[in-house]
Amino acid sequence: MKGPFETPEAVGRALRRARTRLLSMVEDLTDGQLAVPPSPILNPFLWELGHVAWFAERFLLRRGAGDPSLRADADRHWDSIAVAHQTRWDLDLPSRRATLDYMQAVLDQSLERMERLVWSPAERDRHLLVLAHEEQHVEAFAYMRQTLAYPPPPGARLQAEGHSPHQGGEACFPKGTYTIGCDPGEEFVFDNEVPAHGCRLRPFALSCTAVTEYQFRDFVEEGGYRRRDLWSEAGRRWLERSRATHPCRWRAEAGSWLRQDWNRWEPLQERRPVCHVNAFEAEAWCRWAGRRLPTEAEWEVAARTCPPPVARGALQNANFDFALGDLVSVDAFPGGASSGGAIQLHGNLWEWTSTDFHPYPGFRIGLYREYSQPWFHDHRVLRGGSWASGAILVRPSLRNFYRPQRADPWCGFRAARDLGE
Ligand code: AVJ
Ligand code: FE
Repeated sequence: MKGPFETPEAVGRALRRARTRLLSMVEDLTDGQLAVPPSPILNPFLWELGHVAWFAERFLLRRGAGDPSLRADADRHWDSIAVAHQTRWDLDLPSRRATLDYMQAVLDQSLERMERLVWSPAERDRHLLVLAHEEQHVEAFAYMRQTLAYPPPPGARLQAEGHSPHQGGEACFPKGTYTIGCDPGEEFVFDNEVPAHGCRLRPFALSCTAVTEYQFRDFVEEGGYRRRDLWSEAGRRWLERSRATHPCRWRAEAGSWLRQDWNRWEPLQERRPVCHVNAFEAEAWCRWAGRRLPTEAEWEVAARTCPPPVARGALQNANFDFALGDLVSVDAFPGGASSGGAIQLHGNLWEWTSTDFHPYPGFRIGLYREYSQPWFHDHRVLRGGSWASGAILVRPSLRNFYRPQRADPWCGFRAARDLGE
């Protein structure tokens, strides 16, 4: 087995570390702040904490179908498939103390079990599934705190704008049949990344950098939200429903734009990537600029030519795993560039693609049966990972997915276009 998660010791350390970070997302919050208002894009914070432990218990400790939980009420509260989203505010959830105790008990027993375990590829994948799930909820806590305009969690900070010169421009790729996706075995992957398969692509160019706040501001100020011709049909329906005239976290004040970051309002920055825009806004910007969103295959083809992403140390070439605690300028980390010079394909923020979330040909459902299958054709693919994504979530083949109207995750985009033959 290759990679940073080879041994049970390394996986155990990663599980502990993810847990420390998860707890840090709520440690500074009062009970009042834990009780978040009902919303389709939030979860009650205590519910989400319990859910993470329930998930770990299900896959690591409750191996048989009828195995009981450490808590008799666990399935009734925290099974995310069985407990409909809008009902999670009506549950008689255990207290904060009791929830933390349950989380600790599951982690302790899991780590103890790892010491006695015969470590196999299947065991590794089970543990890494639990690690990946916990890291996904860490990231969700970060963006839920942002949605709620709470103070930044520990490890997050407002980043001063950096100025490493970068020429911008585009990375060009010739037409060809390229491989995307993964065969199972070598490293942990989700079911939706499997199998590896050939993809025929026409020649295309991908912007070297993500679209910035200033670039998006120009679109807003030139009437982009009023020009129906720039929007897709679904995008127009969203515009009518939302009556949006600018990105949801922006506000105009005395003739200039401010952006909400945590509990503060900050002026836009020239080289900061625009974040918290949905897929419709991203598409409209691209059409306005004479471009389009990349497909997920184009994105992956480019990302596969990048050096392996590294978040820390002398070889750092990307911003993920809370390495910088915030989004960084689109010019940062030229060392992570793809062939042709596209930078920050890994980390900083998730990038919308034009691709509908769909099963690859030959898709086979994974151990976590409800991870991908229920969401096919209802979600849009995003790629690359964000500053708040754990290392296990950042690789060329990883597919994230949200409904296209979501703007609350750490998401932005870069533009692409067709090249002549
Ligand atoms: C793949 C990040 C969209 O957050 O809904 C967490 C991950 N699935 N628990 C989500 C997930 C179940 C999922 N995303
Ligand atoms: Fe979950």
